[in-house]
Amino acid sequence: MTTSQAFEVEVQALARRIAEGGRREQARVYRMSWWTDRMLEWAMRHPEFKTQLFRFVDVFPACRDDEDVLRHLEEYFEDTSIDVPKALDLGIDVAEHVPFGAHISASVARRNVLRMARQFIAGASPSAALPKLARLWRHGEASTVDLLGEKTVITAEAERYAARVEELLDVFVTGSSSWPERPHLESDPWGRLSRANVSVKPTALSPLFGPLTARDGMDEALARLRPIVARARAEGATIHLDTEYDEAKDLTFELLRALGAEFPDGPQLGCVVQAYRLDSYTDLRDLVAWSRDSLRVPLQVRLVKGAYWDQETIVARSEGWPSPVFEHKAETDANFERCSRYLVDHAGDVRPAIASHNVRSLAYAIAYAGAHGLDERGIELQLLHGMAEPVHAALIDMSRRVRVYAPVGELVPGMAYLVRRLLENTSNESFVRHRFAEGRTLDELVAPPGVDDDSLPDAIPEAPPRSPTDPAAPSPFTNEPRAELRRPGPRERMRAAVDRAASALGFEAPVLIDGREVATGDQLVSVDPGRIDTVVCRSGRAGPAEADRAVDAALAAWPTWRDVTWRDRAAVLFRAAAHMRGRRADLAALEVFEAGKPIPEADADVCEAIDFWEYYGREALRMSAGGEVYEAPGEANSYRYEPRGVGVVISPWNFPLAIPTGMVTAALVTGNAVLLKPAEQTPGVALRLVQILHEAGVPPGALAFVPGVGEEVGAHLVAHPQVSFVAFTGSKAVGLEIVREAAVHREGQHHVKRVIAEMGGKNAVIVDSDADLDVAVPAITSSAFSYAGQKCSA
Ligand code: FAD
Ligand code: 2OP
Repeated sequence: MTTSQAFEVEVQALARRIAEGGRREQARVYRMSWWTDRMLEWAMRHPEFKTQLFRFVDVFPACRDDEDVLRHLEEYFEDTSIDVPKALDLGIDVAEHVPFGAHISASVARRNVLRMARQFIAGASPSAALPKLARLWRHGEASTVDLLGEKTVITAEAERYAARVEELLDVFVTGSSSWPERPHLESDPWGRLSRANVSVKPTALSPLFGPLTARDGMDEALARLRPIVARARAEGATIHLDTEYDEAKDLTFELLRALGAEFPDGPQLGCVVQAYRLDSYTDLRDLVAWSRDSLRVPLQVRLVKGAYWDQETIVARSEGWPSPVFEHKAETDANFERCSRYLVDHAGDVRPAIASHNVRSLAYAIAYAGAHGLDERGIELQLLHGMAEPVHAALIDMSRRVRVYAPVGELVPGMAYLVRRLLENTSNESFVRHRFAEGRTLDELVAPPGVDDDSLPDAIPEAPPRSPTDPAAPSPFTNEPRAELRRPGPRERMRAAVDRAASALGFEAPVLIDGREVATGDQLVSVDPGRIDTVVCRSGRAGPAEADRAVDAALAAWPTWRDVTWRDRAAVLFRAAAHMRGRRADLAALEVFEAGKPIPEADADVCEAIDFWEYYGREALRMSAGGEVYEAPGEANSYRYEPRGVGVVISPWNFPLAIPTGMVTAALVTGNAVLLKPAEQTPGVALRLVQILHEAGVPPGALAFVPGVGEEVGAHLVAHPQVSFVAFTGSKAVGLEIVREAAVHREGQHHVKRVIAEMGGKNAVIVDSDADLDVAVPAITSSAFSYAGQKCSA
């Protein structure tokens, strides 16, 4: 037997010992309350019920009264075809069988959800949780206490969170001082360990704790955490920063480093590395080196797999970004083992803590530590309160150093935590589910992950560039992913583009007719709305004479463009999309100056423009087949789409690229010739649009650029008898005026003009009484104010 085979045998034997050692605890499925056990078991067997159950649990704290609870029960469960067994009654149907049913069924539901919460939450307040923490201590488990609450939305909330963490620390320090001695929980090879250990969620410390407001978020979080850490130092307590979702990870480690720089001699600081992340091994190495070089009290590193897998995966998928987490559970497991080895190999530079409910993962770390001569107390094992009770029992029996993560607080701020635990317990990939609910064989559960270390990446890849769409075989339409500004690379590129744009301001945007620059007597000047003495662009100012010339040129060019096949016209759009992709950052940067857009908004506007090309190109391919038409016997009928002629596009400044792109492109791809009259404030961006379309193959005569003043050139074009249609986005006053003017049938006009007018207005947002305000408030604030209220969708 080779050394590695012998080691594997030892790991599996230990994993079995942990799994079997806790057998006396395994009478029920999860060892939770009877009702919670049964409910989760039922949910696992009926995914549709599970979804509705978790949705109900999530909104439950927001329900105002019994009637509201009942209404939600009915709404959430009326469509599920699954009958809930009577014994598990959530409250459903009870109303029909019991007098004063509404009251009773709501209270049944309330009692049962609270039971479920109590399973995972140690107490509603620090002092309420203290007896439970003392009991854990007496039975052989230390704790780290987490004050429920995460991602604050307003400053007052962040201040309240910080104040409550301080209160929690006080209660914990004072309360734990009278606990009996437990030597194996109170020291490790590097010194004493604190009884009072508090886990903090950094996103709760500042509403600005995120990559785009990093400096302010850091300053605020640090200012709120500093007194807490100072107090922990004075009291010999530990402050541990949890790692949350992706956007907060880098900043969390930055916050940790800032604290370490201020408090190199302690208190004991801790952090979390999530093995499900592709970059976790790199982070771990950096943290170990930092702790070794900068701290005199080694950093405690808690290795976890990660609690936000679904969220990370869904966000990445919906944004079209590369996922920051492994896709296969076995990869996470293998990386967890790789990281465990690194932690053990560098024990002393850091204090290793292995947090898992998976007996294989735990056993691997323990066996590796043993094989490498690490003292038993050199590695801490951590578990969540209320999860995998038999594993707790087995590790206590083995006299291992165990710490329990014990959340404290009310249900409303704790709901996200509770839902994560419910998901974790019932996930198809969960060890806890496999072991305790499905009773899979131990052989299966203790087997190695079977993934080679060499195949595990150390960094998150960037999305590969999209290849240009082939009109002969277009892939299904997907939105252009927004720049992943949560990553430093894209942020840097955008910053560089803004610098480049700043040095190229004041450019000319002449009138373009038939592809030729046409000088005008006057100019329009667009300025940076944030700094109005900065000229962004000097554009031509077309008047009626230039407008007439542009219409004549378009009329002359139109027949050729009209006769280009649908597929070739679509191909022009796909090429334009590829050109624009290549210049995305520069276009967005120009919008930052000319339209005063914040970078993420500017980037989104460019994406939307690309989307128009990709989408309308595909629509053109579909429309080339014509439409369905009834054929009576003996008739041969066909239905084709034909262009109308020359159209005028009048676009606004608030979406200076996407809106003109949509209107211009719809008209062009259907075979019309177009005159674009951009907003007076943003001719520079509009010129880039026209240039890209010309480069992509729109004949110069089929697309003219006629910047000017709306009342002069716009009004003239709307009234022009040779103009067949007008596409307009802007104010109601101007839109209605265009509708009126276009309705007049003028001398020499052979058609009735069409007008497409999208006019101003603000949308109402309706927030239901059970909405998650932590989601609704930022979404609405962003919708209304992230572009200073200047969006039609604000
Ligand atoms: P297992 O069942 O072996 O693993 C489940 C985990 O595998 C999932 O949670 C997920 O991480 C991963 N996974 C699931 N499906 C896939 C897939 N298809 N591909 C790849 N990976 C997958 N989590 C944090 O994020 N931040 C923290 O600060 C944190 N603190 C914790 C503190 C303690 C004391 C403990 C015990 C846990 C903590 N966790 C934290 C939560 C922890 O991440 C989860 O409890 C843990 O991931 C569950 O994994 P497991 O090893 O117990 O079980
Ligand atoms: C969570 O909050 C335990 O930190 C982990 O889900």
